[in-house]
Amino acid sequence: MPSTTPHRPAGDASTTAVVTGASSGLGAEFARQLSARGTDLILVARREDRLVSLANELRSPRCRVDVIVQDLSASGAGETLHHEIRSLGRPVRLLINNAGSGTLGDVVDTSVADLDAQIQLNATSVTTLSRLFSSDFVSAGAGTVVNIASLAALLPAPHMAVYGATKAYVHSFTEALSVELSGTGAHAVVVDPGPTRTEFFDASGGRIGPDSAFATVEQVVAATLRALDRRRVPRVVVPGRGNAFSAPILSRLPRGLGLTLSERLNRLGLEIAARERDARPRTD
Ligand SMILES: NC(=O)c1ccc[n+]([C@@H]2O[C@H](COP(=O)([O-])OP(=O)(O)OC[C@H]3O[C@@H](n4cnc5c(N)ncnc54)[C@H](OP(=O)(O)O)[C@@H]3O)[C@@H](O)[C@H]2O)c1
Repeated sequence: MPSTTPHRPAGDASTTAVVTGASSGLGAEFARQLSARGTDLILVARREDRLVSLANELRSPRCRVDVIVQDLSASGAGETLHHEIRSLGRPVRLLINNAGSGTLGDVVDTSVADLDAQIQLNATSVTTLSRLFSSDFVSAGAGTVVNIASLAALLPAPHMAVYGATKAYVHSFTEALSVELSGTGAHAVVVDPGPTRTEFFDASGGRIGPDSAFATVEQVVAATLRALDRRRVPRVVVPGRGNAFSAPILSRLPRGLGLTLSERLNRLGLEIAARERDARPRTD
């Protein structure tokens, strides 16, 4: 029987949100801003020390915080996580599929295992969790799946091909899912952040441009939650005015021109990463 409780997609004091990739960057900021709304939290990632310290910071009489350590690049991880969350018995009404990673490098220079792990983390686990939580939300008549893609979803990404392809997948999958869910009380929303100051570039390498070219996590998360607060839940959120302006242009570029621009940008990133590697003191 669908619930008649009004549901605020961006979280409120009566709901629990699951945030994957909550140990740093955008995920940790989603946790902070949701806890400020009084939303209970389930924080997921691999680095337990980071999750526990964030949970200790956010836990209060009005905010319950649970921690689940899970590697979402492992096969079957989405089902295991959903099962574990169900066993906590919390009224989850918001899932933020935020965990993700990508590394600069050509496909032929990356191991098959690394490519598989990236697809598993960025696409397979996102799909499984979206599927399982959407069913729960449809049964409850309320709940929102928020999938974090990227502006990189809008163009193929030579030198970061699998990352770009997984984000394009998440974008396409989530838009389609949102249509399938219409009228059920459940929603699916895809978020396409532009470059943002996080640890992402520590792992991927090749950070291009000055700090000022990067949004802060506070800006990206606040813009996302504001968009979710709207009476009509949006299908796609592009945080930041500049990004919202450039997204439709990027997606309408002639494919050849888009590929050339995207290749040049990522090649520059590869060159910067190589220079940073060479400048680093040797440890052996
Ligand atoms: N920063 C940007 O410019 C940017 C732009 C567009 C989109 N995004 C997207 O935003 C999302 C968040 O990234 P971020 O920028 O906040 O980077 P980040 O600071 O590196 O955070 C990534 C999060 O994902 C978690 N994670 C990575 N691998 C995991 C795994 N195998 N299993 C479980 N959790 C894992 C990390 O936690 P553990 O290492 O503890 O597991 C961390 O909490 C990603 O999906 C990214 O693609 C970022």
